[in-house]
Amino acid sequence: MKSKIKDSALATEGRLQLEWAERHMPALVSLRKREATKKSLQGIRVAAVLHVTKETGVLIRTLSEMGAEIFLGGSNPLSTQDDIAAALDGEGIRVYAWRGESQEDYYENLKLLAESSPDIVMDDGADLHSFIHRMAAKPHVLGGTEETTTGVNRLRAMQDKKVLRYPVIAVNDAFTKHLFDNRYGTGQSTVDGILRATNILLAGKVVVVAGYGWVGRGIAMRMRGMGSRVIVTEVDPLRALEASMDGFEVMRMSDAAYEGDIFVTATGNRGIIRGEHIKNMKDGAILANSGHFDVEVDVAGLRETAVESRNVRNNLQEYRLRSGRRVYLVAEGRLANLGAAEGHPSEVMDMSFCNQALSVKYLVQQGKKLLPGVHGVPPEIDRSVAEMKLNALGLKIDVPTKEQLKYASSWETGT
Ligand code: NAD
Ligand code: ADE
Repeated sequence: MKSKIKDSALATEGRLQLEWAERHMPALVSLRKREATKKSLQGIRVAAVLHVTKETGVLIRTLSEMGAEIFLGGSNPLSTQDDIAAALDGEGIRVYAWRGESQEDYYENLKLLAESSPDIVMDDGADLHSFIHRMAAKPHVLGGTEETTTGVNRLRAMQDKKVLRYPVIAVNDAFTKHLFDNRYGTGQSTVDGILRATNILLAGKVVVVAGYGWVGRGIAMRMRGMGSRVIVTEVDPLRALEASMDGFEVMRMSDAAYEGDIFVTATGNRGIIRGEHIKNMKDGAILANSGHFDVEVDVAGLRETAVESRNVRNNLQEYRLRSGRRVYLVAEGRLANLGAAEGHPSEVMDMSFCNQALSVKYLVQQGKKLLPGVHGVPPEIDRSVAEMKLNALGLKIDVPTKEQLKYASSWETGT
């Protein structure tokens, strides 16, 4: 089956973007150079559902040079960069993705990927893993990887219900992934998405961040850096306490609703901002989501209760409420950083995607020995990614002396 993309004429533009990303992904490019001659993925078919961005393009080129045959679909109807899809198609990758896919297109593309008889399934959000497990035929998959928190949570639910049929490596859980990608990547790119959609001044605004996990921490930190007053809402007492001691106000969404100028959800859960909150918001409030699925803001409820709606800018929809007040929704309530901007900067995806490439290699070499279930990224891979990134940045660290190693493992010496 040929690629299904928007426009192959965009390939030249896409190649320039890939060149730019490669400049900023030195660890992955060095990994590619090291691995290319080994061809450790020769004969391996990879079906991948990832946001089709320039950074994903660099990962796909790497897997391809390692010998894999790749089938790629988009992980969100709004996140595909059509020029990248065209460039990859021109390099022999089967791409089934375009920006603005309908729900139906999205599932047809998942079906094409599932039917490509993959040895390895790479996913971001676990839609492909879930789709494959609901097909009648037993999957002949060696193993899979999962990029994001929501996907890992879904796979753990499958594991608990004993329906997960192959081993999956939770790339999200590597330190060199979530500490940087979820926090600094989403922190910066969410601000970027909100600004591209609205171009408003953040200084002096009240920003309500729902969820103080890795993503929420990053968004809160960066919004504060722009001069906003940040309020955090949480359901976990520890995280709420942490937010408070990090210097943020903590309150319930029902109270924060009156105060916010901008609301950003990052919980991975549903119905975080509902009609009962929206009706109390200020005229002009802006709603954005950076959690994986478009369920955090009750968009269906908003559409039903609004008396009128219109597009006012790219990726910005205005809803007029019965009270006459207007609220604005960024990128249809889908991931604001990927729907209204370009996703995380290449520098952080550099580490996330080194973990992906090395996890795929690990599965090819060790997958048969792993039981079905969710597995962590082997710590030696996580550490090697940190080392590669430090090297690429030209940063040197100390090596413990013999005495220090001995002291660190002793118990006799105290006061
Ligand atoms: P996390 O588990 O570290 O944090 C989620 C936080 O939300 C937790 O502290 C939890 O207590 C809180 N929460 C849950 N329900 C809540 C509610 N009703 N109200 C307030 N807080 C609530 O997860 P994370 O790594 O921060 O990821 C969050 C979401 O962002 C996931 O969906 C993840 O897949 C997604 N994600 C998106 C991007 C992106 O590019 N936009 C990148 C990484 C992760
Ligand atoms: N997730 C968040 N940002 C991304 C990016 N730039 N590329 C691929 N996946 C992403």
